Amino acid sequence: MIDKIKAHIAKVEAFATEKKEELEQFRLEYLGKKGLLNDLFAKFKEVPKEEKKEFGQIINELKSKAEAKINELKEKLGGHSAAPAYNDLTRPAFPMEIGSRHPVSLIKNKIVEIFANIGFSIAEGPEIEDDWHNFTALNLPEYHPARDMQDTFFIQTRPDILLHTHTSSVEVCYMEQNQPPIRIIAPGRVYRNEDISARSHCLFHQIEGLYIDTNVSFADLKQTLLYFTKEMFGKSKIRLRPSYFPFTEPSAEMDIYWGLNNEIDYRITKGTGWLEIMGCGMTDPNVLKNCNIDPEKYSGFAFGIGLERVAMLLYQIGDIRAFYENDVRFLEQFKSSI
Ligand code: DAH
Repeated sequence: MIDKIKAHIAKVEAFATEKKEELEQFRLEYLGKKGLLNDLFAKFKEVPKEEKKEFGQIINELKSKAEAKINELKEKLGGHSAAPAYNDLTRPAFPMEIGSRHPVSLIKNKIVEIFANIGFSIAEGPEIEDDWHNFTALNLPEYHPARDMQDTFFIQTRPDILLHTHTSSVEVCYMEQNQPPIRIIAPGRVYRNEDISARSHCLFHQIEGLYIDTNVSFADLKQTLLYFTKEMFGKSKIRLRPSYFPFTEPSAEMDIYWGLNNEIDYRITKGTGWLEIMGCGMTDPNVLKNCNIDPEKYSGFAFGIGLERVAMLLYQIGDIRAFYENDVRFLEQFKSSI
């Protein structure tokens, strides 16, 4: 019996094949349910006690040799059939699906880069805010009529907790924790309880800018915005129209001269050539005081830009809802803009 098994071991060791079917045959012969090894293990019970040790060792050897041989041949044969695919260097590459950045991210990154170049760093703040950071500290006390400019989503059980309606709240967070000089931009998602239409949404994005230092003047604001306009839009004419925001004094609305070169220019500027881009102004001394910054010593400016608005302008998107529907046919169009 032992000799027979030894002969099988030799046979296993010598076995070679180029065909997968033959290898499978071999596997079944030795390791299959009705294969030789199962047979031998069954016979093991009947082997006399004093022979058990030697018998056990030899069938285990046969089993591991058969397994090793199968693995070795499997790898060899498997490798052979796949080899041509890797070896043929003239084959065209697999088409790789490249994703694209969201247009709002593209605009955000560009604006961040433009301001980073003149020393602004990014600040972040929570989207769920309290009344103080979103309104009161920004010179919008309770019952101030300007609160109506921004329809707010409140957290149902907490009338003083809300989804921030503008990124100006991040200014407050930052000033409370840092003394001037301050040079930050704060990109973020903001929420307003507005009807959804082609022109407005209950969720959109803004970037807030804030610069506080000694001797900051309105001229600094103007030059900073002119620099931004040149870098972002390639236009070099802006105007600052007097406006009102509770957190800035004086406040302004910045318009860019877009030009009237074609029909689209006429349409988007309503025939005037001018486009309203952002709100801005000199930070109100009350706001500085609320954030523990001395308004006698420091002054500064702030501005707020709507990102969707800029993206709609630059990419000529007619409906704000397109940004949030995640239709790949829309998103794929921005592949080349990365
Ligand atoms: N927070 C304003 C809004 O959401 C935008 C804004 C206007 C921000 C003027 C400013 C600013 O910092 O100075 O409508």
